[in-house]
Amino acid sequence: MNKPVKIAIDGPAGAGKSTVAKIVAKRLNIEYLDSGAFYRGITKIILDSNIKIEDYNGINTILKDIILDFADGRIIVNGKDVTDHLRCKDVTLNVSPVSSIIPVRIKVNEFLNIYSKDKSIIMDGRDIGTVVFPDAEYKFYLDAAVDERALRRYKEKNTDMTLDSIKESIIKRDKNDKNKKFGALKIADNAIYIDTTNLTLDEVVNKIIEKIKIK
Ligand code: C5P
Repeated sequence: MNKPVKIAIDGPAGAGKSTVAKIVAKRLNIEYLDSGAFYRGITKIILDSNIKIEDYNGINTILKDIILDFADGRIIVNGKDVTDHLRCKDVTLNVSPVSSIIPVRIKVNEFLNIYSKDKSIIMDGRDIGTVVFPDAEYKFYLDAAVDERALRRYKEKNTDMTLDSIKESIIKRDKNDKNKKFGALKIADNAIYIDTTNLTLDEVVNKIIEKIKIK
């Protein structure tokens, strides 16, 4: 690919976005970025600082000096590698409310845009096709039944949560994510919708690659 190409993959929690996007990135030989990891990284820093999510001024003070980075596949916040803490229960339960705070979204979007400038990149999240890359050449929305999504997250084994609590948190997170004032989870106008409930990983990847080639 000569001209930088942006590929947006949005959808609810556990729809397989990251797994699929990583494989597509490899097959197309382009970079992959998980936007949710930055919301998780900021959530981790807020939780560690003991500032309450309702403390708007406290959060703004943290945000003022926060530095996000992505290097060698690691998520770095304020020079600290937080990658291994992003999937823990506390972060998972608080990330949706934290990502509803508009200055948090502005901070993450700023980083995502600077990082992707002049690059071909595939990015997954909730608002990539609608807000981050509204002009993306390719937009996909991956979905799946909630039981299947909870099971997929549970099988990833990088969580300290039970299957039931994962399902519960997914339902809560989806509801919150769909009702955000800014950057809500929704299907971008020109996105291709893929229900992955009964599809294998390969089938989803192939569907996406096919679209990118034939367009
Ligand atoms: O993708 P992941 O499940 O790690 O995202 C964690 C949370 O971050 C989501 O539930 C959502 O609240 C938030 N998020 C967002 N916008 C994005 C990506 C993630 O609000 N582009």
